[in-house]
Amino acid sequence: MAQVSNTRRSPFLAGVYAPVDDELEVAELAVTGEIPGALRGTFVRNGPNPMFEPKGRYHIFDGDGMLHAVSLDEGRASYRNRWIRSAGLMAEIGARRALYGGMADADFPGPDVVGDAGPMKNVANTHVIRHAGRILALWEAGPPTEVNPELATVGPFDFGGRLLGAMTAHPKIDPDSGELLFFGYSALPPFLRYYVVDAAGELTRHVDLELPAPVMMHDFVVTAEHVVFLDAPAVFDLEGFAAGGEMLSWRPELGARLGVMPRDGDARDVVWCEVDPCYVFHFLNAWTEGSHVHVDACRMEDMDIGLGDGPPPEGANGRLGRFTVDLGSGTASWEQLDDLPSDFPRIDDRRAGRRHRYGYVGAITGPSTGFGAFDAVVRHDLERGERAVCSFGAGHVVGEPVFAPDPGGTAEDDGWLVSFVYDAEHDTSDVVVLDARDVAGGPVARIHMPRRVPFGFHGSWFPAEP
Ligand SMILES: [Fe+2]
Repeated sequence: MAQVSNTRRSPFLAGVYAPVDDELEVAELAVTGEIPGALRGTFVRNGPNPMFEPKGRYHIFDGDGMLHAVSLDEGRASYRNRWIRSAGLMAEIGARRALYGGMADADFPGPDVVGDAGPMKNVANTHVIRHAGRILALWEAGPPTEVNPELATVGPFDFGGRLLGAMTAHPKIDPDSGELLFFGYSALPPFLRYYVVDAAGELTRHVDLELPAPVMMHDFVVTAEHVVFLDAPAVFDLEGFAAGGEMLSWRPELGARLGVMPRDGDARDVVWCEVDPCYVFHFLNAWTEGSHVHVDACRMEDMDIGLGDGPPPEGANGRLGRFTVDLGSGTASWEQLDDLPSDFPRIDDRRAGRRHRYGYVGAITGPSTGFGAFDAVVRHDLERGERAVCSFGAGHVVGEPVFAPDPGGTAEDDGWLVSFVYDAEHDTSDVVVLDARDVAGGPVARIHMPRRVPFGFHGSWFPAEP
């Protein structure tokens, strides 16, 4: 397998972002501290990990998806990692080199180069969820990719042909109904589609929605009654891209709006509310209270994902706060709730769409060292306006804190947070386990990875069968 050695072309090939070139299975990992006995299941995290030296300019969103799974049982931990073997990656494995360019270059290989693998590689590198017994690796520009519990790639999954385009990497599962709700966006009409999948995994409904312009919409949020979309001015420019310009442009003059739709509604029912131009990569949660919808999010003043040749955009991180939508007047307001640069927000998913008290984020408490390079996990008590910080210190990068409920608990914060932490000085990674009730107390366990695990995006906790 070719090694990725050229770090000059992209800052996203060095340090915490540098890919690994192996697939491991380790039956027992070294642990410092004690893994709670009730914490039984698997933490799976997705992320970009190019198998071959990238062709052209590499962006972190381009890398082949790799899943890292840490399974916990009775205080012991095991590890496995696997690439997602997309059709595009299989063509590259056959050629023993990269055949696809990245999103910074208009380079779409034809059938003479990649056979029937298609002009775009569905890298499936952004998130991984489990719904109706299927494990799906997600990427917002294409359909999900199913993998089996051993992380072997099954292939693209289109809900029996009912998925008509791409699927966001941030679907939401309703904790009561078990429904999977999501959207897909497209640079070609219809620019936005909303989908409902029932608890059994059957895609039962889709709604086409109108937007003034095609935009990159990374996440949305759901309450028990509504779905909420943010139409932010990160606009696709296909003509400019074909002429050698950037694919996406930030156009605040077009404004931004939150769209609130009843979950069983359609395009005619959407209430659009103007908000100041902003971008949200990730929502924390939302809930409906009478005629108001409360939407907690990590909000950015603008959006720069560093598609140019420069270093990763520093400070390109959000601030946690709350939009409040008044459905009666069709207006929305924003209140910032914390001043730390923060993103990767998570809650106890059993509260999804319901009023939550606690939120957990990755945050930057020291000097910023790059895109998404958080050095701390922060617990917010949003009822009391208090925060608790677990800082890992300079030279450490912590990922998204994923909430794993305590099966014996009843309170919203009865559980643990699991996350990867990278130590730049020693070039090693751990999975840390924090008690969600005592985040400032530091890790109750550090699970030492057999070698470092690169920066990644999102993951899930899959509880073991009781
Ligand atoms: Fe995301």
